[in-house]
Amino acid sequence: MDEKRRIAILTSGGDASGMNAVIRTVTRYAIYCNLDVYGFYEGYKGLIANDFTVLDLNSVGGIIDRGGTFLYSARSEEFKSKKGQEKAIANLKKNGIEGMIVVGGDGSFRGAYDLHKQGIQVVGIPATIDNDIAGTDNSIGFDTALNVIIDIISKIRDTASSHERIFVVEVMGRESGIIAVNTGVACGADYILIPEIEVDLVKIANDIKNHREGKRHTLIIVSEGTCSAGDVASSIKLLVGHEVRVSVLGHIQRGGSPSAMDRILAAEFGKKAVDLLLENESGCMVGIKSMKIETSKFEDIFEIKKGIDENLYKLAHILAL
Ligand code: ADP
Ligand code: F6P
Repeated sequence: MDEKRRIAILTSGGDASGMNAVIRTVTRYAIYCNLDVYGFYEGYKGLIANDFTVLDLNSVGGIIDRGGTFLYSARSEEFKSKKGQEKAIANLKKNGIEGMIVVGGDGSFRGAYDLHKQGIQVVGIPATIDNDIAGTDNSIGFDTALNVIIDIISKIRDTASSHERIFVVEVMGRESGIIAVNTGVACGADYILIPEIEVDLVKIANDIKNHREGKRHTLIIVSEGTCSAGDVASSIKLLVGHEVRVSVLGHIQRGGSPSAMDRILAAEFGKKAVDLLLENESGCMVGIKSMKIETSKFEDIFEIKKGIDENLYKLAHILAL
């Protein structure tokens, strides 16, 4: 009987809720398509170390609702080197693996592209809470992160109103303000500070001093790539002369059970990625654009910095009047 074709999957970079749902989809759909599936642990670090497990239907039972990634993730500086990539490629060949699915963000896709250029068949599934990958409207983990954030900020609003305080809340996003803008709209923030738009704290302070009667609190969302929430709070306190408190949400934003949307996206992306390998496609990522599952070439998306939705940014500030 012909040997089954073998594919591999790994999760890389900052973890994102929904990665387990992706691994589950890829494994079960690939087995349905009569493929064998190798799961490498700890991203490219595990690929270099040849640290893998053969996945079967039971390996991915009971994980669809689990945050994080059971294949773990890691960052690997060695993989950025030619020598590191040669080790990785040698392991893929030694295991008879013909195609690979990389689940991660922009950085992970740059590694995947390097493998593609060296003849390895690779397809990417976007998974990062930053949602800063150009080839897709939504990355796995972004919706879950927003739902984690709105729950936390709802709690912050309770105490901010009780004490009539100004709260500065710092969210993740690396150099992108996409998390901050969507958080601002979803949480009814008064101000959103993001790397993409110049910050005018004096204007913000004057607005706060003249805000409407009866307003019990002020909520300022700061994207981590702009500046620290602590610095914003010190400046606002100085300029306004009112009590300010700070909450840095940190890695809470990365955990939690994946939302329904992220689980459904994981199913659609996982199937599409396996189909692309079966069609011998490589050097591309799956994505969703205007509700349609699409494919983009890595080299096309690397050149594009995914911007914020400026209309949403403006609307958030109008609705905060
Ligand atoms: P993310 O995928 O979430 O953006 P990173 O930027 O940390 O996360 O990248 C994850 C891993 O991808 C890195 O640890 C490294 O192994 C690999 N990687 C990142 N950038 C590159 C690059 N330019 N070339 C090759 N590999 C890269
Ligand atoms: O890329 C996802 C992300 O959560 C960023 O928003 C954040 O800046 C970074 O990862 C944090 O990296 P680490 O988990 O290595 O601290």
